[in-house]
Amino acid sequence: GSERQDLVERAKRLLAERDAVLVAHYYTSGDLQDLAEETGGHVADSLEMARFGHDHPASTLVVAGVRFMGETAKILNPEKRVLMPTLEAECSLDLGCPADQFTAFCDAHPDHTVVVYANTSAAVKARADWVVTSSIAVDVVRHLVERGEKVLFGPDKHLGHYIERVTGAELLLWPGSCVVHDHFKAQELEALMAERPGAKVLVHPESPEPVIELADVVGSTTQLIQAVQDLDADTFIVATDRGIFHKMQEVAPSKTFLEAPSAGAGATCRSCAHCPWMAMNGLSNLVTTLEQGSNEIHVDPETARKAWQPLKRMLDFNE
Ligand code: 13P
Ligand code: SF4
Repeated sequence: GSERQDLVERAKRLLAERDAVLVAHYYTSGDLQDLAEETGGHVADSLEMARFGHDHPASTLVVAGVRFMGETAKILNPEKRVLMPTLEAECSLDLGCPADQFTAFCDAHPDHTVVVYANTSAAVKARADWVVTSSIAVDVVRHLVERGEKVLFGPDKHLGHYIERVTGAELLLWPGSCVVHDHFKAQELEALMAERPGAKVLVHPESPEPVIELADVVGSTTQLIQAVQDLDADTFIVATDRGIFHKMQEVAPSKTFLEAPSAGAGATCRSCAHCPWMAMNGLSNLVTTLEQGSNEIHVDPETARKAWQPLKRMLDFNE
């Protein structure tokens, strides 16, 4: 409607006036994803989001996603101002991994290399040797195991088990999970697959093991979007946040995308197949943030200094 168009125009004007660039995750609204692309910003998975911004001339990065994405941007770009449409967008993996408890877990296993998922607080990253995202977690852990290292991985247990199965390594795991992906159901997925025999199944590795086992492709959001273009199929069943359909439909407009079944889908399920924190980002709080210069991300400088090294290892990793 025209209110939406008005917000888009205001956001565009403000981004230019404030020397700001927008980077958005694939789970945010289609409006934000389109705006990022139309204004020279970027839509990406969490690894590409971390990479983006460093070489961009804008002095302000606006991160549409969840808090850990804003913190990562700030740690990697301390000289830039980092704003978010909301500072309340958490992540259940981050919430389920308090830094003091995680530090105690690491301290109890000093002979292990600590690898943490990007979906963590700056303080947890500061305790890590490596940060990884779902797009390179398997490769990094395989590299470390081949070097003879023992690995402690957290906080996502499903991703952890998936890495174990693919690499054959045994990891020490933190027992966290994502409220969205944890709800995908294997039995119901099998039933849907039986109804759609030609469909390919795309699964994010934060999903439970029985769901991952049914996948044709397991990968990060960027990798799943790539699979839609690469695979010779008309129909895809997708086990990840439904925000991803915006980009999938754009890159393959003639193909059909179905949500993988998740617990409670429909009536009362708030977080099934759509991250409640990603959904807090919108055009209207983006405009307010830009207008007021509010919702700035600050990371304690000592914590940021310690978290920089494992993040830099992630960005520099090449198999
Ligand atoms: P990606 O790195 O695949 O974009 O995943 C981020 C995330 O939060 C998945 O739930
Ligand atoms: Fe975190 Fe899950 Fe939301 Fe991703 S979808 S940000 S892992 S709660």
